[in-house]
Amino acid sequence: MKQDTIVILDLGSHESARIARLIRKLGVYSEIHPHDITAEQLKNSGNVKGIILNGGENRIVDGAAVDVREELYGLGLPILSVDHPSARTENRIAGWPESDLEAETILRGFLFKDCAAEPNWNTKNFLADQIELIRRQVGDRKVLLALSGGVDSSVVAALLIKAIGDQLTCVHVNHGLLRKGEPEQVVEVFRNQLGANLVYVDASERFLNKLAGVADPEQKRKIIGAEFIRVFEEEARKLEGIDFLAQGTIYPDIIESGTKTAKAVKAHHNVGGLPDDLKFELVEPLKQLFKDEVRACGLELGLPESMVYRQPFPGPGLGVRCLGAITRDRLEAVRESDAILREEFQAAGLEGKVWQYFTAVPDFKSVGVRDNARCFEYPVIIRAVNTVDAMTAEVALIDWPILQKITARILKEVKGVNRVCFDLSPKPPATIEWE
Ligand code: XMP
Repeated sequence: MKQDTIVILDLGSHESARIARLIRKLGVYSEIHPHDITAEQLKNSGNVKGIILNGGENRIVDGAAVDVREELYGLGLPILSVDHPSARTENRIAGWPESDLEAETILRGFLFKDCAAEPNWNTKNFLADQIELIRRQVGDRKVLLALSGGVDSSVVAALLIKAIGDQLTCVHVNHGLLRKGEPEQVVEVFRNQLGANLVYVDASERFLNKLAGVADPEQKRKIIGAEFIRVFEEEARKLEGIDFLAQGTIYPDIIESGTKTAKAVKAHHNVGGLPDDLKFELVEPLKQLFKDEVRACGLELGLPESMVYRQPFPGPGLGVRCLGAITRDRLEAVRESDAILREEFQAAGLEGKVWQYFTAVPDFKSVGVRDNARCFEYPVIIRAVNTVDAMTAEVALIDWPILQKITARILKEVKGVNRVCFDLSPKPPATIEWE
């Protein structure tokens, strides 16, 4: 193992993520684990140099105070107890200072004096350690991965290809609601450049047929989600002897799904809902990382920047941007106008500066004139927003000349569109997506 690890045990603190990040900022790798981790699991998680018992206001679960397993105290590792009623260590504080600087002072003492940890956390070492851990977990068995082409699943794929090569099979399901060029990029990068075992499934027709006539946004999401699982399941059944399912879970997903001492914010699953007879053991090498760290791993693994810095894209894809009941002509208009928007934002240097930008096409038409005759065609709505956490968002101010150029191109190049609008609404009360 190339890096030293400090393990933070979640005993009800809200601060585990902040402390994990501060430890990494000091150059030492940190992991957050549930309080009931066994000594064996702890030892298997890397070169552990010390443990932080991170207590806090959620320390009471089901009426009882949570504590760690007795056996952890016998490991001989330095322990820092924070706001936790354990009498086993003299190294205790009542809680974390609000100021990061003060918290860092405490951490410095613990990491470098008590634990004698080396500041050897970096992307290269992390990946090297993960490769070793994945090989240990998987042995000579086989792993399956649903590769969406999003940042997280792409980084997992690249990492697993390095670790286990053709023991990995990636399945890319094209649900027909991806952006222009996306399925082609997945095939090019993973099959052609990285040599992955890639099953590419074009299920567009199937999804569009299922969605025909369905106008309710939540119903559309449900259909897309359920059909995705069905297609993936069918592909998984065709492959034989697979024991593991790899997932691009990252730490914020774990927080949102709820930990043992904190309630779920929202249900989160990448490929949840597989039937019981398709039980796999999970491989989740990124589950301790934050998004910026995942991106750094992607670059280190040689993935293209356009993939690593990709803006967020919803699972149901263009399906929630082709408003109301999806039709092929409007879906095409969303895809083409979105491609123009992205191209022009890139040319204007806005890529990476605006958090999310896309187009939507409503299911009504407006009157216009084309070639001296009345026309009755769809509008395209441009949305560009900035946000920190997607809970609130503000409109991104885009220079008029850029918007005019995009408008001119959309009106000229996208069939069946005679009007372009720019959405000025903040969230709330609007959401980022239109559906
Ligand atoms: P809203 O529209 O709720 O979007 O303001 C907030 C962020 O979430 C994305 N989003 C989704 N992502 N499945 C996803 O994976 C979905 O059904 C979904 N709906 C919205 C949206 O693109 C934005 O980044």
